[in-house]
Amino acid sequence: MDEKTPQGNRIRNYVSIACGAARIRTADGANIQKAEMTMAKPALLMTGPMMPLITKGCEAAFMVHRLWEAGDRETLLKRVAPQIRAICTGGHTGVRTDEALMARFPDLKIVGNFGVGYDSVDAVAAARRGVVVTNTPEVLTEEVADTTLGLLLNTVRELYQAEKWLRDGRWAKEGDYRLTPASLRDRSVGIVGLGRIGKAIARRLEAFGVPVSYFGRNPQPGVRYRHYADLVALARDVDTLIVVTPGGPATQNLINADVLGALGSRGILINVSRGSVVDEAALIDALKRRTILAAGLDVYRNEPKLNPAFLDLDNVTLFPHVGSASQHTRNAMGQLVVDNLAAFAEGKPPKTPVAETPFKGW
Ligand code: 8YV
Repeated sequence: MDEKTPQGNRIRNYVSIACGAARIRTADGANIQKAEMTMAKPALLMTGPMMPLITKGCEAAFMVHRLWEAGDRETLLKRVAPQIRAICTGGHTGVRTDEALMARFPDLKIVGNFGVGYDSVDAVAAARRGVVVTNTPEVLTEEVADTTLGLLLNTVRELYQAEKWLRDGRWAKEGDYRLTPASLRDRSVGIVGLGRIGKAIARRLEAFGVPVSYFGRNPQPGVRYRHYADLVALARDVDTLIVVTPGGPATQNLINADVLGALGSRGILINVSRGSVVDEAALIDALKRRTILAAGLDVYRNEPKLNPAFLDLDNVTLFPHVGSASQHTRNAMGQLVVDNLAAFAEGKPPKTPVAETPFKGW
């Protein structure tokens, strides 16, 4: 709403009341402090450290409470719970935004998740409570697909081990690195979860001349890759599985001993989704007994403390969850987190609500 200075100049309040920012600007552009403005910014709970872009963006629109910095989390939660209207979180914080946590905040309206995967947020419970959950789709699709091809090529052609051979001086002393038992040239890939990222991976594989099929409950219209509704049947027909399906209870241990058995001794498993999707004990056993050839992993059950048994295996390539981890892509993801949360503060629709919590108004 426009106001007037004591001198009669028209001033415009550029910041929405919901934000409660304390600066106003005169029509001639000068900034003046609006001392009498008492409207507080809405309160936001940040569950763990976020990139500066997110922290700054949140602080511009919210009163930010940092859960991980609280000496006593319980005391902080008790004090701020009645005011909390937004949560900023991500899988890396280790905090699960479940029904019990959300129930503590009677005025909670939005949970902004850093990451396309939101298995650390109970979106069904959020929907019941009228809370919108947002994630970061699209902006990371191509990056994660690039990383997946990198992980696949590293696993198949042993590129890390080959470079290590050179760096250890073995090339000059002992001769060429070994010919790799595996090659992409005679492989066929089954994609487990043909969503946006799965399709971007499939496009790349097509360019590499690698045949693709996929597992999913139903065939997708307009998709020409062969569909399997039976994961074991897919594993039997291909020799390489790429797992890119969302985590959460529905996909828990989807890649189990039966699937690995069906993949067979030429088999290679690549996982870029969530550690929970793979039965890690079964995978470690299959790698140890060499009932599959190799695995390439970017994600683990207990990140960042992965099962130490993986480190003793020479037939697994281990990436430290770097699927989307470039400055370019993380900045885009961070900006989307901020845009979604700021939309709430400004009374606007969120940009990317998840399917379980369509926006129906604040
Ligand atoms: C991030 C991811 O590492 O988007 C996801 O679901 O797994 C990654 O891009 C993760 O979100 C960090 O919390």
